[in-house]
Amino acid sequence: MELLRVKGGQPLHGEIQASGSKNSVLAIMCAVLLCDGETILENVPELSDVNTLMQILEETGLKCEWIAKNTVRIQNDGITNSEVSEELVRKMRASFSVLGPLLAKSGKSVIPLPGGCVIGARPVDQHLKAMRALGAHVTMTDGAVSAEINGRLKGAAMFLGTRYGATVGATNAAISAGALASGTTIIYNAAREPEIVDLVMFLNKAGARIRGVGTDIITIEGVESLKGVRYSVMGDRIESGTYLCAGVITRGKVTVSNIAPQTLAGLPSLLFDMGCGITMEGDSITVDASNRELRPTNVITFAYPGFATDLQPAMLTLLTVANGISYVKETVFDARFGFTQELTRMGADIKISGDTAIVNGVDALTGARVVASDLRAAGALIVAGLAAKGSTNIEGLQYLDRGYENPVEKFKSLGAHIERVQS
Ligand code: UD1
Repeated sequence: MELLRVKGGQPLHGEIQASGSKNSVLAIMCAVLLCDGETILENVPELSDVNTLMQILEETGLKCEWIAKNTVRIQNDGITNSEVSEELVRKMRASFSVLGPLLAKSGKSVIPLPGGCVIGARPVDQHLKAMRALGAHVTMTDGAVSAEINGRLKGAAMFLGTRYGATVGATNAAISAGALASGTTIIYNAAREPEIVDLVMFLNKAGARIRGVGTDIITIEGVESLKGVRYSVMGDRIESGTYLCAGVITRGKVTVSNIAPQTLAGLPSLLFDMGCGITMEGDSITVDASNRELRPTNVITFAYPGFATDLQPAMLTLLTVANGISYVKETVFDARFGFTQELTRMGADIKISGDTAIVNGVDALTGARVVASDLRAAGALIVAGLAAKGSTNIEGLQYLDRGYENPVEKFKSLGAHIERVQS
């Protein structure tokens, strides 16, 4: 089995470049189904999730290839198959996001249900609601969603949302499907995440007419066709945040560039509250925790511009060594504290009460053999290992490879002692 071995105690120093955003590129690649001809995507992170989505697009008849480092070419000469295989949807939940674009472009879409995952139930009711609002006939048989439309989807007004707030995935689905619908589509309570803004910038460059993105009301004037374009994907704010937390927990000084600092929303100010120095300049952000004592703070995850749920595991890990008690409330996913059991094995003092983790800072974490059970848990366990006394061996690297590009090289360039080993 392959493990990540991290030897803690070394303050991280230096600068890394953020990779392209995983969540952004996945949404954009799904939207390429709508665009005729050739699309070239730049700043694409080389991740297993991206390769899985390339396989799915190939299944539908598109041609995908890496043509240079971080550059993907996708040729869309027409969709030849509107059914995605279960094996691929099981590999990556986000593959469900082809539902809307496939339906809008080919009139039909059959996608197996992704099922639950370790961070919560993750239903798709709002995706289906959006497709129905646009006139599709949606049924569920044999564990798959089947959506069909005779002719073109028809623009409509819709309200999307769940008890957790706005939904990113369903907002993306409605935007992509609405882009080729006849007439006007209005999405109320749209999610405002920067990755949605990136998707819309791509679609508008391809010929779509979408306005209001970044606010909670998005208006789409449907067009008849979209044309492939060259587009560079935004930097990954979740990856960036993980490296910043790693810099802080080791009491180092880390700069992340190729990232729009405002997309990090609440993270910089929370790190400032904890006692760190923060500098933001152009497309870079520096956090300085050298010789600083870390104060506790309270965190509530929320849809953007709230604190990102995907950064909660790294942030909570940081708080395990703050000087006092912190409260972390998770409002977006209902089971996102599983990784704290592994932190407890490393000496952290964490109690879970419903949707809140009560984190009592300890003097130091201790290395242990731990298991990553999802992508962001993997990032958090690296953050923990970098600060722990002794060695931490992390299992579950298949999750890490889904969302972090070259993590060993990047952490090493900051001075970390980290390597992949067989055990
Ligand atoms: C996306 C991101 C994920 C991030 C999440 C929230 C991708 C590939 N993934 O996931 O990394 O953590 O946004 O920022 O971009 N829900 C429903 N019904 C639905 C849809 C969602 O109840 O039809 C619930 C979900 O279970 C969850 C909450 O709403 O509890 C938010 O989900 P959503 O924003 O849709 O997340 P994803 O698009 O799945």
